[in-house]
Amino acid sequence: MRHLLSTRTLGRDEAILLLDVAEDMADVATREVKKLPTLRGKTVVNLFFEDSTRTRISFEAAAKRLSADVINFSAKGSSVSKGESLKDTAQTLAAIGADGVVIRHPASGAPQVLADSGWIDAGIINAGDGTHEHPTQALLDAFTIRRRLHGTASRGKDLAGVRVTIVGDVLHSRVARSNVWLLSTLGAEVSLIAPPTLVPADTSAWPARVGFDLDEAVDEGPDVMMMLRIQAERMQDSFFPNSREYARTWGLDDTRFARLRPGTMVMHPGPMNRGLEISSAAADSAQSTVLEQVTNGVSVRMAALYLLLSGDREES
Ligand code: CP
Repeated sequence: MRHLLSTRTLGRDEAILLLDVAEDMADVATREVKKLPTLRGKTVVNLFFEDSTRTRISFEAAAKRLSADVINFSAKGSSVSKGESLKDTAQTLAAIGADGVVIRHPASGAPQVLADSGWIDAGIINAGDGTHEHPTQALLDAFTIRRRLHGTASRGKDLAGVRVTIVGDVLHSRVARSNVWLLSTLGAEVSLIAPPTLVPADTSAWPARVGFDLDEAVDEGPDVMMMLRIQAERMQDSFFPNSREYARTWGLDDTRFARLRPGTMVMHPGPMNRGLEISSAAADSAQSTVLEQVTNGVSVRMAALYLLLSGDREES
């Protein structure tokens, strides 16, 4: 595996391999084993042009637990704010000797540009690009579902027949896109529930059912209900009902949460808008996997870094 840019292009076997290697990494990710020497001598750059808490911190933890050197680069406070281009930034990182670049960027496609450019010979991992994709988030979500269903006997298993309902601001969600592709590749049945104004135009080509009624979706008793963050910062053009109306119609509030099947997992990629798309009762319940998702993010990102950077880049 040379780069990890998208789940749309990830095959079933590659996805299962990533999840299985993440299982192997779990003891290190949870600190039962302190560190592995696997990436000693390698340099990983976290190149973040957009804010992040979970993704940036967990990539840093993942790289350090594999003994890599880590450089954290944030566009704020760098020469990007003086107008430096992605090309010059990438060539600067190449001159420093980066083996891996984890990039988050507001422009959809920026990680692909970096991977195709020849500006830098490094493994590129997409840590979220615009409204396009967030592949490691989908992988950690799949890992979390598989672990809740199969525990430590998860290795080699896919998600055949698992019913996943993704709810909310699908239009602006790279998490939703990456999950639709990955979960369906793994055999899950994916449904999307959203306000009509927050459904992308191209969903007819997606391997997912689209609906608008959250109460109906709750009563169907899915195995997983994944709530999405309302991305107010990306909403210049589209219609957004007021917060109270959104919470009443498309939020997993206390009443809907109480009606959910007790076995339904409640997921959210974070950061959460409590009281808007999800109530605190739902987010903090035993059914919630929100913090497990964060923990599993370290295992999955260790797996991605390991698979991209541990071999010889020429050979891979
Ligand atoms: N889920 C996620 O990408 O969170 P951050 O924006 O905090 O990284």
